[in-house]
Amino acid sequence: MAIDEYLKSLKPVPSPRLAKGKLSPSANRGRKVFESAGCTSCHTGELHTDLKKHDLGIGKWLDEGKSFDTPTLVEVWRTAPYLYDGRAATIEDMLKKHNVDDRHGQTSDLSDRQVKDLVEFVLSL
Ligand code: HEC
Repeated sequence: MAIDEYLKSLKPVPSPRLAKGKLSPSANRGRKVFESAGCTSCHTGELHTDLKKHDLGIGKWLDEGKSFDTPTLVEVWRTAPYLYDGRAATIEDMLKKHNVDDRHGQTSDLSDRQVKDLVEFVLSL
């Protein structure tokens, strides 16, 4: 169908944080943090999703104990606020304030600089 073909032809908008299509030095460091903090166990592959649901311990009220679809991280730089109810205004907030018991990646032991680099990487996708 024509609409299918049109949708399939759409390309993601490159992040304005990329320099000539490449990751900045900070984002490059962040890519390593993304791996060491365990983000890739769910955000895997080209689209950074395992296409599965996970319970991150963040469900509130009727959503308590619920699992959520792992979203792609492509173009996440233009889709704030984050998490299913938009409770995190920024990626940093999401990682620091809304990560219950490190269930959304091992972030509690990251230095401020590692967090900054990780945010830079995520916003470059
Ligand atoms: C256990 C699996 C799992 C791990 C590990 C994980 N994520 Fe997620 N991630 C998810 C799920 C599930 C959601 C959707 C949560 C929701 O909808 O509220 C999500 C949402 C996100 C979002 C928000 C997307 C949006 O549009 O709202 C970002 C950004 C993100 N993850 C980045 C990371 C980073 C960075 C790490 C490593 C520190 C990480 N994730 C580790 C499963 C995971």
